[in-house]
Amino acid sequence: MRIAMIGSGYVGLVSGACLSEFGHTVICVDKDEKKIAALQAGGIPIFEPGLDEVVAASVKAGRLSFDTDLGRAVAGADAVFIGVGTPSRRGDGHADLSYVFAAAEEIARALTGYAVVVTKSTVPVGTSRKVEEIIKQARPDAEFDMASNPEFLREGSAIEDFRRPDRVVVGCDTDRARDVMREIYRPLYLSETPIVFTTRESSELIKYAANAFLAVKITFINEMADICEKVGGDVQDVARGMGLDGRIGNKFLHAGPGYGGSCFPKDTLALVQTAQSIGAPTRIVEAVVAVNDRRKQDMAKKIETAFGGVKGKTIAVLGLTFKPNTDDMRDAPSLVILPYLQAAGATIRAYDPEGCKEAAKHMQLDYRKDAYDALDGADGVVILTEWNEFRALDLPRVKAALKQPLMVDLRNIYRPAQMAEAGFRYISVGRA
Ligand code: UDX
Repeated sequence: MRIAMIGSGYVGLVSGACLSEFGHTVICVDKDEKKIAALQAGGIPIFEPGLDEVVAASVKAGRLSFDTDLGRAVAGADAVFIGVGTPSRRGDGHADLSYVFAAAEEIARALTGYAVVVTKSTVPVGTSRKVEEIIKQARPDAEFDMASNPEFLREGSAIEDFRRPDRVVVGCDTDRARDVMREIYRPLYLSETPIVFTTRESSELIKYAANAFLAVKITFINEMADICEKVGGDVQDVARGMGLDGRIGNKFLHAGPGYGGSCFPKDTLALVQTAQSIGAPTRIVEAVVAVNDRRKQDMAKKIETAFGGVKGKTIAVLGLTFKPNTDDMRDAPSLVILPYLQAAGATIRAYDPEGCKEAAKHMQLDYRKDAYDALDGADGVVILTEWNEFRALDLPRVKAALKQPLMVDLRNIYRPAQMAEAGFRYISVGRA
């Protein structure tokens, strides 16, 4: 199949590269000339484990290329994927669809023969129909079908998620479109991946429902963590005890500083807005959004209390990104927690394996070259992101480097007993 991928950001680039790995010929398009030039020169603009190898192999095999010219990519394509950004609209939290609609206009002008136009970006229910109208208005003669095919990729394991997804969701109304989509995902039939064919509306909603449900799970366990702290429970035992119930499942029950990232905050907010505007408000998701926002501030206060006030203190911070194995800082809890501590008079010495460059665009911190460099002479350490390299710190060395042996671990990567034995005052989440 010949595929045009419109938008070469995170979703577009990972999806385009992986589809070319499936054997299709893919052209990834972006308006950003610098980005396309960098990709053409073999550079990868984002940090995603394994992406560089997939891109290099497909480019070498002649199946993947990059272009700023949308028309060239769309002409003759069997499928045109829209993978442009859908950020939160400033002010009201609705998904900003201006990039999607602009892409639709351009695609309309560039279509040459029958193609399936697929929305890959996360878009509110009904967007696929609007895109269809835009294309029809711009080109009444165009021969095309619309499909919705949301992505469920996790940053940091996106390549694996694309190769071995739990399921593929496709919303479309015609057999012709279904056949094209089935052909695109044919390699996954070998691994017996379930493919859910449904309407476009259901497909669009599945994406929001899945992300919102996961956000509910995280927020739920975070509230259980607060209860554990009051009653002397251990939230990890609670999560395990709950999660072994097959109806609940053990995933996404890890208590922490609140969810962040490019999807959960934006998608929960967009779902709340859509639901309100159609008169079917989702009070559960509304509460989740509010509780998660509040949690980030509460975590800052928790750190302040642990340090007995932070005025004039130096805090070593390990991890800045919203989760490990990414350089993505979007809606990271650190963006709320650290400015709060700075405003309260703390000096922040930070280290993140991949995120310092991105973080520096948002926060003025004392960035350090590694964990021990950040710890040296600090009044205590805070773990904000569970990078693997922070799981195996040399504890005697950490203790010797700090002015006082204080660790606030918001990701529960150490065990309280182990830390007590190592002589630390150790404060974690939802554990005595
Ligand atoms: C998520 C979805 O998992 C993915 O399917 C969707 O397509 C995009 O959004 P991602 O944002 O990459 O992926 O990260 P994810 O691993 O889901 O974590 C999101 C946030 O939740 C992170 O801040 C993470 O730290 C937090 N989290 C996750 C928890 O606090 N506890 C958990 O148990 C799981």
